[in-house]
Amino acid sequence: MSSVLNVDTIKGKINKNIYGHFSEHLGRCIYEGIWVGEDSPIPNTNGIRNDVVEALKQIRVPVLRWPGGCFADEYHWKDGIGPRENRKRMINTHWGGVVENNHFGTHEFMELCAQIGCEPYINGNVGSGTVQEMSEWVEYLTFGGVSPMAELREENGREQPWSVTYFGVGNENWGCGGNMRPEYYADLYRQYQTYVRNYGDNRIHRIACGPNSDDYNWMDVLMREAARYMDSITLHYYTVPGTWGNKGPATGFSREEWFTTLEKALFMDELITKHSTIMDKYDPDQRIGLIVDEWGTWYDVEPGTNPGFLYQQNSLRDALVAGLTLNIFHKHCNRVRMANIAQTINVLQAVILTEGEKIALTPTYHVFDMYKVHQDAELLDLNLESGTYSAFGRSIPEVTGTASRDAEGKIHISLCNLNDESASTVTIDLRGISAASLTVTGTTLTSEELDAHNTFEQPDRIAPKPFDAFKTDGTHLVVELPSKSVTVLELV
Ligand code: AHR
Repeated sequence: MSSVLNVDTIKGKINKNIYGHFSEHLGRCIYEGIWVGEDSPIPNTNGIRNDVVEALKQIRVPVLRWPGGCFADEYHWKDGIGPRENRKRMINTHWGGVVENNHFGTHEFMELCAQIGCEPYINGNVGSGTVQEMSEWVEYLTFGGVSPMAELREENGREQPWSVTYFGVGNENWGCGGNMRPEYYADLYRQYQTYVRNYGDNRIHRIACGPNSDDYNWMDVLMREAARYMDSITLHYYTVPGTWGNKGPATGFSREEWFTTLEKALFMDELITKHSTIMDKYDPDQRIGLIVDEWGTWYDVEPGTNPGFLYQQNSLRDALVAGLTLNIFHKHCNRVRMANIAQTINVLQAVILTEGEKIALTPTYHVFDMYKVHQDAELLDLNLESGTYSAFGRSIPEVTGTASRDAEGKIHISLCNLNDESASTVTIDLRGISAASLTVTGTTLTSEELDAHNTFEQPDRIAPKPFDAFKTDGTHLVVELPSKSVTVLELV
């Protein structure tokens, strides 16, 4: 079986925002994971952990979504400004019933984005907030003239407005964001977004709440009723190996759970294809972006942890989910312009885990690091032919892959071998370049165990390694992918 890479055919541009992240006031994501406070013995800058910021800079996080999630539709932003000791304390009713002291608010989030060097994506409250509240938040953030909110911002120590592009008008309004019908939310969206204003040079990219998974009716109604008022619409899809009541463990899972998880993660391709078809009906010129602003694996929490904190380990299986999902986003890059993995630290498919001052980078982190070469690169035409991976009476593709060319002309090919038992040989017929004149290097992430993972005691148990199991002849690149591996090749 021969695959073809045609470097003369450019299929689109992979928006770097596909590598975005999501951080909610949930469990130990914000508090402990990011915010430790200025007086903490954990090294920090203005209360934000230095080790975490360094790690996030390394993977070039382009955009960060905050404050939720379900928390967004209960969040009243004025509770999170002003002197910290005066900020309201409240119960985080969605997530674990713990006290939220609002020490991390608008100023702290914008400081975090500045330290990481990423763009903020702020999610406003439709479910329990008013139009005025949302409108004033945008004024507080972005208005540079004389106004009550600009004055309030100045009183709180920030004279200049910030630049904010991405603004979400509600989250999961079909569920935790108000249990609305699509017709009702579409009308509310039209109303709320009217008052999300552009001040000065700041231009807001308005984001509507899109469907849950395969709720194609929600997408159809939103596009029919509100397309002209939005710049993007969201999609949420989580990979749950079992059922919502019994999702399965993050480690110590069976071979069948491995297979099922990857099979379910691959469903993202069908979802995006079908939602894009609906979007095409109302937006044939593809003006509107699809933003997958919540995706990732969702397992049972680690034994002994607060069930409302959604803390789970992260293994080689998650690396494969990340690799294959990012390949799917690349493939759909003309419609998918942003994605935000849930969630950055200590929650669901996290890239970083922390415990006190200790930190561990997860296999998912390593995939984001290996794949960052695709950010803002041109998607090339890779027609990948691989065998099927058959087990338990079911079949999925054995290998998924995409290729891109960056601004310096380097070509990168990311390949995931989903098969947990066999290596896979991929033969790529190179069109438009001579294999003989190429220098090829590679990196791979794999391990003996399906659930190989990093702990605070063994933080480098699974990490990327140099890879050289490939050869070239005049026209072909032949790659021997290890079983259960994520590999990135560079062709110069
Ligand atoms: O990421 C955890 C939760 O999942 C989010 O708060 C919510 O939007 C989704 O249901």
